[in-house]
Amino acid sequence: MANSNEIDDVLNVLVVGSGGREHALCWALAKSRRVGDLYCAPGNGGIANVARRVNLNANDTDGILLMCRDVNIDFVVVGPEAPLVDGLVDRLDAAGVAAFGPSAAAAQLEGSKGFTKDLCDRYDIPTAAYGRFDNESDAKSYVQKQGAPIVVKADGLAAGKGVTIAQTVKEASIAIDKIFDGQFGDAGHEVVIEEFLHGEEASFFALVDGEHILELETAQDHKAVGDGDTGPNTGGMGAYSPAPVMNTDLRARVMAEIIRPTVEGMAKDGAPYKGVLYAGLMITDDGPKLIEYNVRFGDPECQVLMTRLDSDLLPLLMASQDGTLDKVSATWKTEVALSVVMASKGYPGPYEKGTLIRNIDAANKVDQVTVFHAGTALEGGKIRATGGRVLNVTALGTTVAEAQKRAYGAVDQIKWPSGFCRRDIGWRAIEREEAESA
Ligand code: AMP
Ligand code: GLY
Repeated sequence: MANSNEIDDVLNVLVVGSGGREHALCWALAKSRRVGDLYCAPGNGGIANVARRVNLNANDTDGILLMCRDVNIDFVVVGPEAPLVDGLVDRLDAAGVAAFGPSAAAAQLEGSKGFTKDLCDRYDIPTAAYGRFDNESDAKSYVQKQGAPIVVKADGLAAGKGVTIAQTVKEASIAIDKIFDGQFGDAGHEVVIEEFLHGEEASFFALVDGEHILELETAQDHKAVGDGDTGPNTGGMGAYSPAPVMNTDLRARVMAEIIRPTVEGMAKDGAPYKGVLYAGLMITDDGPKLIEYNVRFGDPECQVLMTRLDSDLLPLLMASQDGTLDKVSATWKTEVALSVVMASKGYPGPYEKGTLIRNIDAANKVDQVTVFHAGTALEGGKIRATGGRVLNVTALGTTVAEAQKRAYGAVDQIKWPSGFCRRDIGWRAIEREEAESA
């Protein structure tokens, strides 16, 4: 593969995944002067505008390996966590294909909550106090001893559904039963029980190459389905970047107390981390604490990060893969980006599939707005909804309030009777802006 310093070469790039995150990654990579042919497997109804779609599932490792050989892929960008935890990057590596993302061993940072808690314990990384249990009765006696509120988590990947914030010991007990009853399959062989942390949540992103760290930007998302952050949790109903709570001092603390010890610890433990490290943080009265790591870009956080990124994305991702992150830097727009997720009515519960969406073009024409697709399919020139989270209407603005106004202006152009969105994405940041200007 070409060295990232040889800027004259163009590379054939494959993005793996099908969500709004992957649309945003393809959109950013399509602008790169270093990208030759850009492919996405499997992609979605919007990605065809920026990349060639390949009919391969993100978990079809053998298919992806064959495709890389057949069309001479030089670099693979893996979007979602599941193929990373399953070792896609290890397989590509063994086949001589350079890929962005962690090895299976390093992806344990997301693949096992217990793994990450033990790492925090070993390297003094601030996080909620916890216990790890492989049976119900020990888990329940720990809960009895600690009292509520308390947080119960399935150890493994559970698509964001494995976490219960229990307000009572009884609720915690029910959550423990559910996990050991097999509700989360393999993810539920073990449970992590944590102290409930109070504070404001924020997300912090960094690129890592095993040794060097390139700090990216911050974001905040809205996980709950309903306005005012009410109702069940989802994959994320909207996000904005930067996170106003993350001032310079806090960012420096996060790097020094959380990110750097993690990267050094992983290297010391023989599983050097490469890829994007996404820290979910709680900003408590005692400072920042790690809630969890993800080993991929957030969705929809990626959409707001890519909208703000001014640098060419490809050399940054390549530097993470080839160990030269100390030689690159990233520049960002000073504007705020905000993304509103439009979802199928019923989500995160059951919803109708195949409903028709019209007028996305008009939304895309709104000044400073980009509509990323998630669960959509293009059929006979028409866009239909195929998933829970369907569109990410993303806008830039000089303030969060301005970005929000633009995003909802574009949302209102879209004609989709079977869809809905939250109407208050960014509310906390806007309150802060209003308080600061008062
Ligand atoms: P996780 O999948 O671990 O990020 O948890 C999902 C969500 O649950 C987080 O974004 C937080 O809102 C919440 N959460 C998880 N752990 C804690 C904790 N220890 N204290 C308070 N809230 C938590
Ligand atoms: N939006 C949260 C996540 O990607 O995990």
